[in-house]
Amino acid sequence: MPHLILSDASLAFGHVPLLDHADFQLDPGERVALIGRNGTGKTSLLRALAGVGGLDDGKVWQDPGIRVAYVSQEPPFAAELTVFETVVAGMGELSALLADYHAVSHALGEPDADHEPLLERMHDLQTELEARHAWSFEAQAEKVIQRFSLDPDARVGTLSGGQKKRLALAQALAISPDLLLLDEPTNHLDIATIEWLEEMLMSSGVTLLFITHDRCFLDRVATRIVELDRGRLLSCPGNFSEYLSKKEGMLHDEACCVSNNCAATVPRAASGRARSNWRWIPETRAASWSPSLSM
Ligand SMILES: Nc1ncnc2c1ncn2[C@@H]1O[C@H](COP(=O)(O)OP(=O)(O)OP(=O)(O)O)[C@@H](O)[C@H]1O
Ligand SMILES: [Mg+2]
Repeated sequence: MPHLILSDASLAFGHVPLLDHADFQLDPGERVALIGRNGTGKTSLLRALAGVGGLDDGKVWQDPGIRVAYVSQEPPFAAELTVFETVVAGMGELSALLADYHAVSHALGEPDADHEPLLERMHDLQTELEARHAWSFEAQAEKVIQRFSLDPDARVGTLSGGQKKRLALAQALAISPDLLLLDEPTNHLDIATIEWLEEMLMSSGVTLLFITHDRCFLDRVATRIVELDRGRLLSCPGNFSEYLSKKEGMLHDEACCVSNNCAATVPRAASGRARSNWRWIPETRAASWSPSLSM
């Protein structure tokens, strides 16, 4: 079963359409790079697929049985929360419990701590965390915070833009998602962290849809390239280097076609674009699906 389906989607701000009856399908295990010129609507499309942005028309369907995490281009956070509270905020009903436990542990380390009530509270929290098998979540949160070199007790309002981006990635990875939607994930990351992220994404088996201007990341991570161009989505299996050589072939076909005036002999898609090695999305459509998110 696909993880994600976009069906007959249209979206415009003003009179230029960003999506024009676009279709897309993302299958488990794929790592798809969404590319396109600046301002073509990549972020708007990813927001719609994540369920945080709307469409003028069409539908988005997400497999209801999977965990989905979305990291936006400019992640918005509550300034008064700590890094730890923010990371566990995506963990549903456990988040308050984990945040409490962390706050009590922190308070116990303060020089003027009132130990007796704090220890009592900690005991209650430990019992409840054990009952809910929540220790692995606590450990996972600590691990990703450390991985992204963040201070768990820092207030989000004091973080730089780069630290906020790392926090957004930590929050997304802390829930061990089945599907990750990433908008410019490598912005503000150092090379070692980018390389770790690449390895993690490739070895974890997570399904991925991402936008990036980082050519190296794109080439290493993508298993398929999808280009957003004038409202339509064009799909090309393989990495970015394969995409470039196929695109070159396509442009060559188009140039030959124009110089030989051979429009009738080259197969063309609905928009008039020569197809060459390209396939229009969707390549396959699930036999049956029921929309749970309709826009
Ligand atoms: N909420 C909005 N209201 C009005 N216009 C919007 C809104 N969101 C996006 N736009 C416009 O839609 C166009 C596409 O924006 P979007 O951010 O989706 O493009 P993008 O491909 O992600 O661009 P970039 O490569 O610069 O990140 C832009 O011209 C943008 O100004
Ligand atoms: Mg964008």
